[in-house]
Amino acid sequence: MFYPEEKLEEIKDRLDVVDLIGSYVKLKKSGSGYVGLCPFHSEKTPSFSVSPGRQSFHCFGCGKGGDIFWFVKEYENISYPEAIRQLAERAGVTLPELNYSRKAKEREKKRERLFAANKEAARYFYYLLRAPAGKEGMAYLERRGLTQDTIHRFGLGFAASGRDNLVKYLKEKGFTDAEIRDAALAKYDEKWGLHDHFWNRVMFPIQDVSGRVIGFGGRVMGEGEPKYLNSQESPVFDKSRNLYGLNFARASRKKRFILCEGYMDVISQHQAGFTEAVASLGTAFTPGQAALLRKYDSDIYLAYDSDGAGTKAAIRAGEILREAGMSGKIISLKPYKDPDEFVRNLGAEEYEKRILDAENLFLFEVRSLYETIDRRDPAARTRFASETAAKLLRFEDAIERDNYLSSVASTYGIDPGALKGKVAELAGREQLRAIRAPVVTSQERAREKAKKEGTSEKLLLRRFFEEPESLDIAVKYLSPEDFTVPPTGELAALIFALGKDKLSLNNIVGELDEETGEYAAGLFSTPAEEYEWDADRKKVLFEMIRAVKQHSLEKHSEDLDIGRVVEIRNVIAGLEKEIAAIE
Ligand code: CTP
Ligand code: MN
Repeated sequence: MFYPEEKLEEIKDRLDVVDLIGSYVKLKKSGSGYVGLCPFHSEKTPSFSVSPGRQSFHCFGCGKGGDIFWFVKEYENISYPEAIRQLAERAGVTLPELNYSRKAKEREKKRERLFAANKEAARYFYYLLRAPAGKEGMAYLERRGLTQDTIHRFGLGFAASGRDNLVKYLKEKGFTDAEIRDAALAKYDEKWGLHDHFWNRVMFPIQDVSGRVIGFGGRVMGEGEPKYLNSQESPVFDKSRNLYGLNFARASRKKRFILCEGYMDVISQHQAGFTEAVASLGTAFTPGQAALLRKYDSDIYLAYDSDGAGTKAAIRAGEILREAGMSGKIISLKPYKDPDEFVRNLGAEEYEKRILDAENLFLFEVRSLYETIDRRDPAARTRFASETAAKLLRFEDAIERDNYLSSVASTYGIDPGALKGKVAELAGREQLRAIRAPVVTSQERAREKAKKEGTSEKLLLRRFFEEPESLDIAVKYLSPEDFTVPPTGELAALIFALGKDKLSLNNIVGELDEETGEYAAGLFSTPAEEYEWDADRKKVLFEMIRAVKQHSLEKHSEDLDIGRVVEIRNVIAGLEKEIAAIE
């Protein structure tokens, strides 16, 4: 494949790099070029520069750089040829038909098949909901206040009980076992063969921004665990880069989005006229989703559950928005639990009022902190003031910071002078730290370290899923206590207890709290690396086991008596021998 070089040059000529990137990132003139905050990593001072002379961009912070095609590819998370086509259209340049490489063609063809399988599945569920078999499902949705119109608009459906209804249907439609499995619509195991992923659930098709069905959420009717079962990720379903309802919300013309947590929340709000509502997909809000919303340059309102978990999730979502250079406000839903309940009980007008009254996320965060402390305890009040000062550091603009400072000082009866002093003290400390570590912040470093730390543990757990036989090998060398990075220990304990025959995501997720469950679902639905050779696979397995054992030894060495340490060292030596023997 490739597009002729002269066409690419023509596009570059017509679309000036500064204009183009400037439409995504706020740029400031600096010397012969322009600078701005890098859209590809989080930063507070600009290290992202655009050079009109070279028609390129470069970030000194994260090292990304390239031409306009590369920029759009990275920013929009699309393929390089897709970026070229998009920009050609923008520039009014006609491109010749492309000769794809065979591999790229195949990949594209396969994705098309997976989209088609998902669409066909959605049709099937849609049909069933209206058939006698779906009576209970329809009654459930009606009981939850959805009109026929809404049910139709969101393409809701029903998966009946049965081992392989959908599999049979899709096979009749010409899909192969592999396609059905790769679309995450069915799973295979020796006992059950190829069997449906969803049964006896009300089905919510999940659409991408252009309206293609990419996966499903299925809700049990009434009580039952798990309440929602979601499709695992697939080549067409990336949970971190899609939002439920965005295909409708992008066209709402309101210049705002309401970000919430649940499918039902989105649907209820749309039914009440708030077609700007979107939700994350059974996982926490991600930076990829923030990037998706950022393009529309709209205001963001958070409508998260009003309980403790919702508050925590909202604050975290706020952080992600901030890291993406966006801000948001939070809608109070009290005394109701979520937007669905609020809208159903108090109606659209009251909801609109709550949106107008939405609280600044910073003030919300401070207030939430205040509500958790014992106000009669002077030490707790001092801690509260210090933590508030630390939060105030986020505001780089001195006037903005001062405004927030006076506001919280007066609300919570803190002496403004003292609070200012604390902020200055913390700012000084932060500066010192910055001087000592000029590039990466300590927070970023800690995050990096934590990420690396759990890598072998995570990979090994994932391997158990991918290849249950590996569990039999691992148990010879490891116990759950060897998984020292949370929550891998908890997961390992469950997996070891289940054993390879009962190992399934369902059996695991049902046993975990929501957060760990989400973590597990995410972990086990990410595809593992591919290895070329069987020997590699085996070697990698032993290397992962060794790494986990080694970490465990490092973590526990201080609490263990010397005999035990020697024992573990011997196990590690044994593993090393095994590894050396595989070739
Ligand atoms: N969720 C999930 N798996 C679960 C529970 C929740 O994936 N076991 C996700 C779903 O996307 C769900 C969202 O988290 O829509 C919010 O969950 P929750 O607040 O528990 O449910 P509601 O949206 O209130 O669902 P409902 O109103 O149907 O009870
Ligand atoms: Mn709800």
